[in-house]
Amino acid sequence: MMLQETATLANGVTIPRLGLGTWFIDDKDVVPAVREALRLGYRHVDTAPAYRNERGVGRAVRDSGLPREEVFVTSKVDAGAKTHGAARDGIDASLRQTGLDHLDLVLVHSPTPWRAFGGTERYLEENQEVWRALEEALAAGKVRATGLSNFEVADVDNILGGCSVAPMVNQVLAHIGNTPHELIRSCQDRGILVEAYSPVAHDELLGNQQVARVAERYAVSVPQLCVRYCLQLGLVPLPKSADPDHLRENAEVDFTISDEDMDLLRGVEPLTDYGDHRALTIYGGHRDVRSLLALARGALRSRLRPTRAR
Ligand SMILES: NC(=O)c1ccc[n+]([C@@H]2O[C@H](COP(=O)([O-])OP(=O)(O)OC[C@H]3O[C@@H](n4cnc5c(N)ncnc54)[C@H](OP(=O)(O)O)[C@@H]3O)[C@@H](O)[C@H]2O)c1
Repeated sequence: MMLQETATLANGVTIPRLGLGTWFIDDKDVVPAVREALRLGYRHVDTAPAYRNERGVGRAVRDSGLPREEVFVTSKVDAGAKTHGAARDGIDASLRQTGLDHLDLVLVHSPTPWRAFGGTERYLEENQEVWRALEEALAAGKVRATGLSNFEVADVDNILGGCSVAPMVNQVLAHIGNTPHELIRSCQDRGILVEAYSPVAHDELLGNQQVARVAERYAVSVPQLCVRYCLQLGLVPLPKSADPDHLRENAEVDFTISDEDMDLLRGVEPLTDYGDHRALTIYGGHRDVRSLLALARGALRSRLRPTRAR
């Protein structure tokens, strides 16, 4: 069963091959969502200070009754924390928020502050300084593994060029219709495990007919196909859900996509417009009024949608 499969990071730490994403699940709702996920057998949860739900994630893990070493918890150093001190304090704050005595993985959320995301300024020296704080947290036993997120090849090279301990993970946007194959290959060649965030494209793939036709061939849903696609690329997907049925479904991925269909999925028309989510920075969002209104509409709709995990 996929929930029991693990991969091994460069420092020997094992990480479950499938994780639970928690972006846009608020601190109150994340408690029942993580509790249900753990009940179903998930053993890997992804959070971040930016999600404002570290407290709830930590509480659900602590209250689960599971031995701490059986649950893999990831958090991140804020994208805007670009000094050694800010990164060190950020890790300590995540430990306080979660109430855990260590985190399994801490990632640098982005090579640039969000306002500079996708721009040309690379924050090279700042990221080396931030990385030093992660290395110190690792040496102090506050975290068991360290990594990056949203880092392009040049950003990864910058860290590798000045580090004592190499990053073990890079968490990047990767889904059918938007898979950074070169970046993935480059990381994997250097022993860096790649995690796929937004494996369902934040829900934008749900209505994709081309993907739905392939899913039908395997008698699975589009999210299941999306998760399986990432797994077969050697990625660790982090599908987000607060719905118990979706949580169960996303973990039932013990089928194999044929080589022919993997090629077909690699060739799916690139997803360039994330619909209601297009205003979000990671999907190329621009801070114009139209995009922000679309984002507000989407957020309102998802708040009005009932979540059965409550
Ligand atoms: N490092 C970064 O910069 C970064 C950026 C983005 C995301 N992430 C991480 O990656 C995680 C996943 O990405 P994401 O949250 O953007 O999006 P995602 O996992 O691609 O998609 C989540 C959306 O798909 C829906 N969904 C999931 N499974 C479903 C199913 N079986 N059937 C129907 N709908 C389903 C969810 O709704 P329901 O809740 O109703 O199921 C939600 O609307 C995040 O939560 C976060 O932990 C990291």
